Amino acid sequence: MTKHNLKKAESAGSAFFVCITILLLLFITGCSKKQISSVSSSQPTDEKPLLVGFSQIGAESAWRTCNTESMQQAAQEAGIQLLYSNAEQKQENQIKAIRSFIVYQVDVIAFVPIVQDGWDSVLKEARDAGIPVLVTDRKINTSDESLYAGYIGTDGYAEGQKAARFLLNKYADSPADAHFNILEIRGTDGASVTTDRYEGFRSILSDDSRFEIVWSESGDFLRSKGQELANTLLQGSNGVFKINGKKIDIIYFHNDAMTLGFIEVLKQSGIRPGKDITIVTVDAEQAAIDALRQGDVNCVVECNPKIGPQVMDLIKDLGQGKEIPRLIHVYEQVFTEFDDLSEVEPRGY
Ligand code: AHR
Repeated sequence: MTKHNLKKAESAGSAFFVCITILLLLFITGCSKKQISSVSSSQPTDEKPLLVGFSQIGAESAWRTCNTESMQQAAQEAGIQLLYSNAEQKQENQIKAIRSFIVYQVDVIAFVPIVQDGWDSVLKEARDAGIPVLVTDRKINTSDESLYAGYIGTDGYAEGQKAARFLLNKYADSPADAHFNILEIRGTDGASVTTDRYEGFRSILSDDSRFEIVWSESGDFLRSKGQELANTLLQGSNGVFKINGKKIDIIYFHNDAMTLGFIEVLKQSGIRPGKDITIVTVDAEQAAIDALRQGDVNCVVECNPKIGPQVMDLIKDLGQGKEIPRLIHVYEQVFTEFDDLSEVEPRGY
């Protein structure tokens, strides 16, 4: 099917087109029905809608589900035809999806890179096909910055710094010879947010000898892994959490899903999260804000998943051949045990 014919079918806005879209993509990529679906515009318009391929990494957390919904809803409201592909946590699935978007000659490609490295070849293919690429939520490493039009999403480095600054504030009155042992539960290794949250955190604490990161391990951003790690690390703890003989005072989690899994096990072990151990977490899911209100968590650093409307604005610019900013960090807050939380709006994720 040629692009011309596709566009004609598209402007007719028929349900038939949506079916053909899905079938063709399934044929091209060999992906399962679960992995690719199409969200069509609810706004009939004379202009042909933009056709956008969006490769999401999966559904590993409530945060991620909200991010997907934000993209789909914003596309619908903007009258953009979004071809959505779920990579189920595999980079190879994302590369396949991007290739299928290229074959399909979409107007713009947007994707959340599960890891930072390994995108140059497929992005060169997109550039050769004349399709602009927008990177969202996580960043990439590339030898050629011109391979993508721009990035919009979270500032992982600032999040790590905010987590660390909370600790400096909380322990401001502790003497210079005090000592705090920190356990860090990282996100997916190789992901930009993991690297950034890791480095941002250290950039603030490395000058303060009271803080020591005694253990750091990946929980892959999954609640189940948070639980699993807690079960392993807490073995034989008898009410005091020690690693290599050092009592853990603080746990810094790279996301709420892992936090929620981990603190469930802490409680079962007779250790009170938020009281016996300081808990700092990133994302600001509703469940984490609730845990903060209950005193199980001490600080929640927001990572904003609701970026769909801003992404769609950039996509419209790209569709019109305009340049977009190279880097946009979205607005993100911090919620702590020292704040009045009565005004915090329901999070929606
Ligand atoms: O890339 C953003 C991170 O990915 C969020 O912190 C996490 O919850 C998600 O899985």
